[in-house]
Amino acid sequence: ERFERMAQDVFTRFGFEPIRTPVMEEADLFRRSVGESTDIVQKEMYEFEDRGHTRIALRPEGTAGVVRAFIENHLAHESAVRKFYYYGPMFRAERPQAGRMRQFHQIGLESLGSDSVRADTEIMQALAAFLNAAGIRGAEFQINCLGDPDDRKRYAGELRSYLERRIGDICETCRIRMDANVMRVLDCKNPSCRDVVRDAPKILESVKDAYRAELEVVLGVLAESGIKGRYNPTVVRGLDYYTRIVFEVTHPDLGSQDALAAGGRYDLLVKQLGGRATPAVGCALGMERLVMAMKAAGDPASGPRIVVVALGESAQQPGYRLLSQIRAEGFDSDMDFENRSLKAQLRRAEKCGARWCLILGDNEIQKQTVIIKDMTEGGGQNEIPAGDVLGHLRKVLQ
Ligand code: HAM
Repeated sequence: ERFERMAQDVFTRFGFEPIRTPVMEEADLFRRSVGESTDIVQKEMYEFEDRGHTRIALRPEGTAGVVRAFIENHLAHESAVRKFYYYGPMFRAERPQAGRMRQFHQIGLESLGSDSVRADTEIMQALAAFLNAAGIRGAEFQINCLGDPDDRKRYAGELRSYLERRIGDICETCRIRMDANVMRVLDCKNPSCRDVVRDAPKILESVKDAYRAELEVVLGVLAESGIKGRYNPTVVRGLDYYTRIVFEVTHPDLGSQDALAAGGRYDLLVKQLGGRATPAVGCALGMERLVMAMKAAGDPASGPRIVVVALGESAQQPGYRLLSQIRAEGFDSDMDFENRSLKAQLRRAEKCGARWCLILGDNEIQKQTVIIKDMTEGGGQNEIPAGDVLGHLRKVLQ
């Protein structure tokens, strides 16, 4: 929820509007967009026939649904760019492991209608701003350029002939990929394939000069904005709809599933799915992986700011009344009802990151006071009249 709120804040600031698309779509939508020969469509879609005998899929990703909604609901504004953000569950029948789930959650951005490389950099900057707000450090943008279909076709031929010369050194899966989807060989994790790939021709050498120049612009903008990024020729993406700039965001704390987010341009997809030709670019981030990266960085405590510490049986009822008053005032607060020792209650308050403890025992009840303890390091405590507690909290918390 915190990430979702952050996404709303950051992406609204960048001019994106919310969009929610169905979790189910016709399976065919993904065949036509993500691509027939991709792992997602070949092996990972949860697909079934509904009562009307339509092939349905639980969405494996968000872009196809957004583009479908964009076309069907005529969301294209005359000569204006439409920018959307979304979050929600996605489904892929992969083998579960750390950072890889069969139901996972993405936060995504899609910007439709601009051909400019500034739209690419805007997406990356919005994503970087979000990561920054989430307190994630150490993420790195890995950028590549895939050109247009002509460039790719030419390059696929070159790559295939190179791989044929090294056929003995590549894995079984990659030999199959050579026919169906040769570029996927470039991101094979097998060590011997990696060796082969190191000396393979680079797609950047096959793309048109204008596209190559865009890569320079992107790297320049990232450097200017203090976002860590580099050209990485092995980023080819596992979905077919990409053109021109593509990227993945890696994070060192994610282990083997190191992509925190990924995206790129898909200039041909809107037309391919039946709409008017509309250049577009977008990205999506895996929320579970975000949580992993955040935990590795030290999970910030997220408990209530105020904890009422009631000591002894007779303090329980007044303590509870105070808790209700604080909550009614709109402050987040909590209390332990088990009448534990002062030490135990303070330890728990500290653990959940409380900023203030309000302590009351027999003495305080008699004097009609409350002790306010500042929980920051070296913070002191003072005793104030019970009637002044809310006013005091208002002053220190607002
Ligand atoms: P993707 O690279 O397939 O791209 O997924 C984006 C992110 O979703 C990944 O970087 C990863 O963090 C997360 N992710 C993917 N699969 C799993 C899984 N099984 N378990 C946990 N997390 C996962 C897309 O989906 C594109 N639609 C991105 C995009 C938007 N391109 C343009 N617009």
